[in-house]
Amino acid sequence: MQIPDSPILKAIYERRSIRQFTDESVSRDLIMTAIEAASWAPSGLNNQPWRFAIIWDKPLQEALAALTKYSNILKSAFVLIAVFLDKEASYDYTKDCQAVGACLQNLLLSLHSMGLGAVWIGEILRNKDRVNETLILPNRFELMATVAVGQPAHRNQKSHRKPIEELILLEK
Ligand SMILES: Cc1cc2nc3c(=O)[nH]c(=O)nc-3n(C[C@H](O)[C@H](O)[C@H](O)COP(=O)(O)O)c2cc1C
Repeated sequence: MQIPDSPILKAIYERRSIRQFTDESVSRDLIMTAIEAASWAPSGLNNQPWRFAIIWDKPLQEALAALTKYSNILKSAFVLIAVFLDKEASYDYTKDCQAVGACLQNLLLSLHSMGLGAVWIGEILRNKDRVNETLILPNRFELMATVAVGQPAHRNQKSHRKPIEELILLEK
């Protein structure tokens, strides 16, 4: 299949989950740019139920790292972005989770497009209440994911996808 020359398609195909980072810093401006782009995701009724906690503080990062088996990834990151669903902004739980998923994908693609590495950490959700306690955030905010961000230590991460013939249920 011929892939059209599109920067969005390029980012979608090139982005990989990055789990190792260098010690090099990440500018706050880039993180804010990515979060703003994330906030342009679609949402039902345009309710924008996503909320972000940005964690630069190393001791706080280590406290969060202790809540997942992927602690090495979190500790290696320069900054963590915890993404929450604001239950008070919610109108339909399933649709709101879908909207936060779209927001997370925007976040990952934006970070990638600016040369940063990132990975979506879902495993930490088993301790989501403890994440709120650690960040001193009320239960109104439900953790959806934590994104570990840094300068990528490498770009040779490989991935694969099922052939689309296996995914298309019908075409009439
Ligand atoms: C809902 C969700 C949860 C994920 N949780 C984790 C996780 O806890 N740890 C991790 O290393 N990667 C996690 N990932 C990243 C996936 O492993 C990764 O996206 C998948 O293997 C495809 O690789 P790619 O992102 O490089 O294309 C998660 C991704 C999603 C969408």
